[in-house]
Amino acid sequence: PFEWYAEMRARGGIHYDEERGAWDLFSYELVHGVLSDYKRFSSQTSGDGEAVSLIGMDPPRHKQYRGLVSQAFTQKSIDMQVDRIEAIAAELLDAVEDQGSMDIIRDFSYPLPVIVIAEMLGVPAHDRELFKDWSDRLVASADPASGQTAEELTMAKHQAAGELYRYFGQVIEERRRNPGSDLVSELLRAKIGDEHLDMPSLLSFCLLLLVAGNETTTNLIGNAAVTFLENPESLARLYAEPELIPAALEESLRFRSPIQSLSRRAIEDVELGGKLIKANEEIVVWMGAANRDESKFPQADLFIPDRKPNQHLAFGQGIHFCLGAPLARLEARIAVTALLKRCRNLQLAEGVKLERTPGSFVFGYESIPVTFT
Ligand code: HEM
Repeated sequence: PFEWYAEMRARGGIHYDEERGAWDLFSYELVHGVLSDYKRFSSQTSGDGEAVSLIGMDPPRHKQYRGLVSQAFTQKSIDMQVDRIEAIAAELLDAVEDQGSMDIIRDFSYPLPVIVIAEMLGVPAHDRELFKDWSDRLVASADPASGQTAEELTMAKHQAAGELYRYFGQVIEERRRNPGSDLVSELLRAKIGDEHLDMPSLLSFCLLLLVAGNETTTNLIGNAAVTFLENPESLARLYAEPELIPAALEESLRFRSPIQSLSRRAIEDVELGGKLIKANEEIVVWMGAANRDESKFPQADLFIPDRKPNQHLAFGQGIHFCLGAPLARLEARIAVTALLKRCRNLQLAEGVKLERTPGSFVFGYESIPVTFT
């Protein structure tokens, strides 16, 4: 998509798409501006009714809800996961070590975040497969080869969400009776004044953690791997200086952002970049394009592992800034550190042509077959 982004930035960074009836924004300044301005740009984009999910809420409800869930999703609760994430990464690599080859997505970056979040939510190990299946069905995108219609896909997602709701309902009731130190118990404890999270809010938050956290983290690790493999000098540096890995991951987030765009709706008439956006019109902000804007990032199309400063927008900006960013960063750092430590001479498998996942919203790869020693 990067050539299209460059062309659109050169043409002013704002464009109205007649077909979709939506505005597209591409420059850093415009994207940053819209994400920062919740008073004029609403996150309630799906139209009808009150949003039940944090990510689709506006203030004042957003502030209240986020205040409650942040009490459970703290830096401390995430730091507690370090040992477990290291153990999970090691287990996944143990399974492929002897064969000298693997698919980084299938064998490593895909299972890792699902197992981590399942454990954090207190899902018992014997339910893990069930859980993975629901989580997959929930974020499945249209696959032209399947012959499935858009309607059927939506139905299938509703069904998966229904099954997950029932399952989480039981987990929540169980934790109410036997509280522990897991995320669900912490969510039940959270309160502001006398207010606790009610059952619909608890359920929709558990679901959001799966939708927002799994595929994105899989793609962060996968995109970083592809980017390192394409830049052998950087890869050699990372082997020699693993302390550079966190900065290289930030650069990878900028360079190949797992989420390329977000939607907003104008609350009132607004003038932006010399154009008039009317109240209620849809706006799509392309962080993937903003993150390649030369006016913010010199040599934006180059991957510079220790780029500084690096104020990319891959986790969003403003009041909805990704709540899971500390967890995603931790998982990716542990995963990539373990990968480089255990797998020397990492290379793309011979004759492989990488294929991207379908759709323009997410940036990731279907599979990343590699060899190593
Ligand atoms: C919000 C990206 C991982 C949970 C967001 C937003 C972005 C984003 C761009 C802003 C949405 C908006 O403004 O409309 C990413 C990326 C990730 C990642 C690129 C991985 C590399 C995670 C993880 C979790 C998570 C691991 C939790 C387990 C959330 C939640 C929100 C959010 C709950 C909503 C926050 C709010 O509305 O206040 N994420 N995310 N994310 N993310 Fe992430």
